[in-house]
Amino acid sequence: MSEKVLVTREIPDAGLRVLEAFDVAVLHERPPERHELLEAVSGASGVLSTATETVDGEVMDAAGEALKVIANMAVGYDNVDVKAASKRGVVVTNTPGVLDETTADVAFMLLLAAARRLGEGERLLRAGKWEWWGPKQLMGHDVWGKKLGIVGFGRIGQALARRATGFGMEIIYHNRSRKEEAERELGASYLDLDELLETADFVSIHTPLTDETNHLIGATKLQRMKPEAVLVNTSRGPVVDEEALAEALAEYRIFAAGLDVYEDEPAVHPKLMELENVVLAPHIGSASVETRDKMAVLAAENLAAVLRGEDPKTPVEA
Ligand code: DGY
Repeated sequence: MSEKVLVTREIPDAGLRVLEAFDVAVLHERPPERHELLEAVSGASGVLSTATETVDGEVMDAAGEALKVIANMAVGYDNVDVKAASKRGVVVTNTPGVLDETTADVAFMLLLAAARRLGEGERLLRAGKWEWWGPKQLMGHDVWGKKLGIVGFGRIGQALARRATGFGMEIIYHNRSRKEEAERELGASYLDLDELLETADFVSIHTPLTDETNHLIGATKLQRMKPEAVLVNTSRGPVVDEEALAEALAEYRIFAAGLDVYEDEPAVHPKLMELENVVLAPHIGSASVETRDKMAVLAAENLAAVLRGEDPKTPVEA
């Protein structure tokens, strides 16, 4: 009898085709309720999860002895308790590398939209309130030639830097370790976080969510940013303190923000919802047809490899 695989959400068919040899159960299009996940996972040898499911020791125990692999269809894996998995001998994998360019597109899109007040302009127009072209109407800030501060200079951060160089932007970055090759290739300079926040015209966040990065950008850090600066976050919501950000935006202590991720998705801080100077996207960083296919295939290949007794392509270090 083939092994049981639980796919927690409806995923692109390309991923399901990789799993044809297994006994696959697919849950819902929507995120499963906790009790549904705990019931459905029973007896599974492999779980293909997404960022919306918390996969902790309780879920692993509910799966039982057969569980060998949790393949997260996301580059971020803060939703999976990697230590609990390692204790139980369960392999965890993620999907790095296949979504870098697509996510960098969205970061740059938010950066442009926030700087040039696109959301505000579209709301005005759709509300039938655009009465004339105005010499002082909807003036934003130029993007070209400005200084872009990238916090977290991994693959996605560097993909964003490549886009920004086409706009003649100067790249500064902060990262746990220096990236000397990328510095040479992109003409980027390393700064400590406070210096970066003080000098950048645009700040884009690309760090994973960990205990160290939780609320990395809070009231004190926002205070350091320039009044004309724009903050972009496409990493994980809790890296930014939303309450502090909403206050900074409301008081125009920074010019604008572009967000794709939130502290308590799908809820968005009510103060942010009321502000004109923030562009809000519903976690679509990797949401292109091409990239979601690649993510589904990589997650499924990782899962299948472990069940076949082979090494997965992209395991997560415990
Ligand atoms: C990722 O891959 O981490 C995206 O944010 C989707 O969850």
